[in-house]
Amino acid sequence: MTPALRPAAPADARALAALHALAFPPAEAWGADVIALMLEMTGGFGAWEPGRGLVLARAAAGEAEILTLAVAPAARRQGLGARLMASALAGAAARGAAAMFLEVAAGNAAARALYAGLGFAEVGRRRRYYADGADALVLRRDIVANTVDGDAAGRV
Ligand SMILES: CC(C)(COP(=O)(O)OP(=O)(O)OC[C@H]1O[C@@H](n2cnc3c(N)ncnc32)[C@H](O)[C@@H]1OP(=O)(O)O)[C@@H](O)C(=O)NCCC(=O)NCCS
Repeated sequence: MTPALRPAAPADARALAALHALAFPPAEAWGADVIALMLEMTGGFGAWEPGRGLVLARAAAGEAEILTLAVAPAARRQGLGARLMASALAGAAARGAAAMFLEVAAGNAAARALYAGLGFAEVGRRRRYYADGADALVLRRDIVANTVDGDAAGRV
């Protein structure tokens, strides 16, 4: 059986940071302090599967954004990234958001394929947005509450 995703709480920040560091290069990994702040922000929420993957998001004023999405290398291509995104979309719908935004590096083929498959479309480009000079694409997807997988608590 697929384990249920857990809601991410500020108290999980150290374990979430360790997991984030598995998925991103050291210069891009987020520390526990940053992750705790994200989860304490108004509208901040997230979901995770310990040791395998996490998503952090924020919903405010009818819109939501993905703050980060990370799946450990050993857990990739098993549908977890898509489940985490479904959970974030459900969590955003439950918080009244009608659209989800995110930024992705133009060269991140895996993430771009995942987001395209979930119905995200490019709505902007931020030139040289990342420290390595890569452009960021801004993607957007409508959230229609009753068409998002998962229940109101963001479980999928
Ligand atoms: C991007 C990432 C989150 C994907 O997680 P994942 O758990 O492997 O994704 P899923 O298994 O749910 O994949 C869903 C679909 O996305 C696409 N996809 C995922 N990884 C892919 C890859 N390496 N190449 C091409 N398509 C890919 C496929 O369409 C896949 O469906 P399929 O496996 O049936 O072909 C993961 O690779 C990761 O953590 N990367 C490093 C961090 C990162 O880039 N985060 C996103 C920043 S915006």
